[in-house]
Formats: sequence, structure tokens, C-alpha cells
Amino acid sequence: MSESMMIVTTLEELWQALRLLERPLGLVPTMGYLHEGHISLARHAREECSSVAATIFVNPTQFGPNEDLARYPRNIEGDLKLLEAAGTDLVWMPTPEVMYPPRFQTWVTVETLTAPLEGAMRPGHFRGVTTVVSKLFNAIQPEKAYFGQKDAQQAAVLRQMARDLSYPTEIVICPTVRDADGLAMSSRNSYLNPEERQAATVLFRALTAAEFAYINGERDAETLRRRMRETIAAEPLARLQYVSCADYDTLVELETVTSKTLLSMAVFVGKTRLIDNFVLR
Ligand SMILES: Nc1ncnc2c1ncn2[C@@H]1O[C@H](COP(=O)(O)OP(=O)(O)OP(=O)(O)O)[C@@H](O)[C@H]1O
Ligand SMILES: [Mg+2]
Repeated sequence: MSESMMIVTTLEELWQALRLLERPLGLVPTMGYLHEGHISLARHAREECSSVAATIFVNPTQFGPNEDLARYPRNIEGDLKLLEAAGTDLVWMPTPEVMYPPRFQTWVTVETLTAPLEGAMRPGHFRGVTTVVSKLFNAIQPEKAYFGQKDAQQAAVLRQMARDLSYPTEIVICPTVRDADGLAMSSRNSYLNPEERQAATVLFRALTAAEFAYINGERDAETLRRRMRETIAAEPLARLQYVSCADYDTLVELETVTSKTLLSMAVFVGKTRLIDNFVLR
């Protein structure tokens, strides 16, 4: 761990700073507006690695044309304070021009795993994610990279990408950090007004209802999906986009739960799109 946190923008500055850091290095990629979920990733990295690097980059290529890129929340000063307190050695904050120079035209795509769920609802999203994470891995060459289970499909897709492209980076997935009432922490929670914030617990309640049925012996996947749908339907401020009860490894929808399973959903609360998931073992 170095004396004070280094903050860099260009690739040249990044490479200079990296020379000063001991290996193994743990990377925490973020889009900023940091919360306790992000900081838990930095803490895991701090425990397991000699150096910790974080990136703050609101990646334009993972936003759809009708998504919230222009109004995505930002708080660089607050973010840097939190990262420093968590023991981060280096923060890379590239500009869009650094990340995507003129005539940029090279993309990384993961195929089958990106087809369902988030991939189906957000065309092009994972192409943006895998391309930017690939660029982060190439520029930093971290021994480990830390991601959150809240974005379950992203975790699966990045594990696949690392394996398929022979990245030496170990992908570490950390548990979802939740507020006291169960709402998964997310930068986009800041869009919610007080009534919507109350209603947003419906994702956790729906997942808990399905998990409860599972614990009580229910193995029919459609019944578990129905439990989730019914819970969402009972919340007037919530509008369901999808629910899923899928195989954990392939993300293919199940008829019967027999092995490790992912319950997941996307729900609009007002205009804010929230996702959450539980794993059934
Ligand atoms: N509640 C959480 N618990 C654990 N990890 C999280 C949590 N929220 C986000 N992360 C992880 O932090 C990393 C950076 O995510 P990102 O910056 O998109 O934050 P976010 O809160 O998911 O933002 P948004 O609300 O816009 O999706 C990802 O690996 C993501 O899975
Ligand atoms: Mg996110």
C-alpha cells in the first residue's frame, strides 16, 4: 500500500503509476457514485492483494440510446474520499476520448450467455461491458478483478470472457450488499423519491417469497416465477420487466429446479430500472 492515493487519467500516466505498485494487484472497476457495495469490493481486494486499483468510468457504450447516460449520477470528490478510506492505491478515471479514441472499431462480444435476461432487454449492453472490461484488463493486467453478485449475468459473462480470451486475471465475485430493508445497493437508487424508495423493497420481497417456497420444497420453476410476479404485481409503483428462474451456469430458463439456480428480475419503480437476484443451492 502506497503513502497516498494516485489519481490518473491518460494511459501514459496509468502505466507510470502501475510501475510503483507491488503485485499482486486487485482491480475494482466502477462507474462511480460509489456506495457500500463498491467499497466492499475494494475491501476484498485490499485483503487479498498487495495493491488495489479502482477505475471510475461511466462507459457510454454499455448504455442504450434511451437509457440514462446523460443524467447518470456523479460525485468524483465523494468517490475519491471513499476509495482512499478503503485503502485504494490508484484510481484511473479515463475520459471517453482516452477509452474510445477517434475511429475506435474493435469490440469484444460474448455470445450465448448474453442472449437472455439483461442481454435481451438491453441490446448491446454486454458488448459495451465486455469491451470496456477487456480494455481495463489489457491496460492494467490485474492479477484479480472484483465484481458484485448484484449483477449476476455480468459476473457470468465476464467469467466466460476471461476464460475464452485466456486472461490470466482471476474474476472474484463478491456478495450483494443491501440496505437494512433488503434493497440491493445501486447507484441508480439515488433516482428514487421517498415513496419509490419504499416500494423498491419489492424486489427483495419477491425474491424472498420465491426462496421461501423453494425452502419449503417447491421445485417447479414456473411456480417460483409466479411467486415473484405476484409479489411485484401487488406493488402499485412497480412494473415488472422480467422474472427468471434459470440454471446458474447457462442462464437457461428451468422447468424444474434440480441444481444451482439463479432467481433474477428487472423491475421499474417509477422510471428507475432496478435488478436483483438470489442464488438457490
Ligand atoms: N449492492 C452491491 N453489492 C455488491 N456489489 C455491487 C453492488 N452494486 C454494484 N456492485 C458492483 O459494483 C461494480 C460496479 O458497478 P456500478 O458502478 O455499475 O454500480 P451500480 O450500483 O451497479 O450502478 P447502477 O445502479 O448504475 O447499475 C459491479 O461489479 C457491480 O456488480
Ligand atoms: Mg451497475
